[in-house]
Amino acid sequence: MRTSKEGAAECGGDAGARHAVWPGVIERYREYLPVTETTPIVTLLEGNTPLVPAPRLAEATDPSLSIYLKCEGFNPTGSFKDRGMTMAISKAVEAGSRAVICASTGNTSASAAAFAARAGLRAFVMVPRGSVALGKLSQAAIHGARVLMVEGSFDQALDIVRRIAESYPVTLVNSVNPFRLEGQKTGAFEVVDQLGRAPDYHLIPVGNAGNITAYWRGYREYHRDAKIGSLPRMVGFHAAGAAPIYENRVIDEPRTVATAIKIGNPASWGPALEALRDSRGFLDVVTDEEILRAYRMLAREEGIFMEPASAATVAGLVKVVKEGRIEPGSTLVLTLTGHGLKDPDTALESASRPASVPASLDAVLAQLGL
Ligand code: F0G
Repeated sequence: MRTSKEGAAECGGDAGARHAVWPGVIERYREYLPVTETTPIVTLLEGNTPLVPAPRLAEATDPSLSIYLKCEGFNPTGSFKDRGMTMAISKAVEAGSRAVICASTGNTSASAAAFAARAGLRAFVMVPRGSVALGKLSQAAIHGARVLMVEGSFDQALDIVRRIAESYPVTLVNSVNPFRLEGQKTGAFEVVDQLGRAPDYHLIPVGNAGNITAYWRGYREYHRDAKIGSLPRMVGFHAAGAAPIYENRVIDEPRTVATAIKIGNPASWGPALEALRDSRGFLDVVTDEEILRAYRMLAREEGIFMEPASAATVAGLVKVVKEGRIEPGSTLVLTLTGHGLKDPDTALESASRPASVPASLDAVLAQLGL
């Protein structure tokens, strides 16, 4: 790598070949976002995540399918939340806010804490006690957020922060903040820009139901501007113990190993239903057992380590292909929402534990069984 006179980074190789520096999702998709020349852009250069082909998954389900994984765990704080957070925090700074608040199952709090730190804002985050993966909690803490563990559910925590934001000078950065979904829709833009077309199906986990709503909005906007000729069917997956939209009722005590989507009363319930209906898609549920099986398979056979909520999408794929609900020959994109390192406890519980050995060649060889 060398640096040109103008200060732009260049990579070696062909003379004159230059890799443009990724500017973050707001600069990249500025014309689709509610920002002006004077909006101060707070970015960690989020987005531009890889769209990875998944041939083993196709082999294991239906080899006629083209399957791609949108690996959102490779964002700066390890989840898709950074797309919405760059927007929410930039707009909060533009509005003169000094502090932000959110409820979270973990990833939103990690992202809010990081972007607030970047912007010099205070961050207050509420997480349901005992239901947040260790990595997420450590992120919020190290970025300097004030973290409160609420003795209740995510839904109760969200209710509390909404009320606080109504009466105190703090900006709510949950996905009920409209700028969050605006940023998150860039995930759909990227899928199209990487794939060169819209997929036939877009599969995604559903918790608070913001992301499925945002992706559908992104696809519709690209379709409106004739950047794609067709729209995907949106296919959502709840964890079976936390399936309010599927069961059409609020779940007071949601349960699932996929703590990120352990939500009983999604904020974007209505818009998610519209996305499902308008895209002629559908919503299904997957059990914790199916989620953990898919989680291991993804890590062992595709080399991709994503958190359990993300694996819900892969579990869903396996289920709906088996049920014959996916047209053979289709192109599918699966959003893998958060990195596996977020939740080391579940990883260690789901795999064989490392064994201790004395520091001798013979002892090591005996263990390896070579
Ligand atoms: N996957 C992961 C890893 C998540 O963190 C979330 C939501 C979802 C899927 C579901 O997305 O809510 O837009 O339907 N996490 C939120 C949080 C609730 O607080 O981090 P959704």
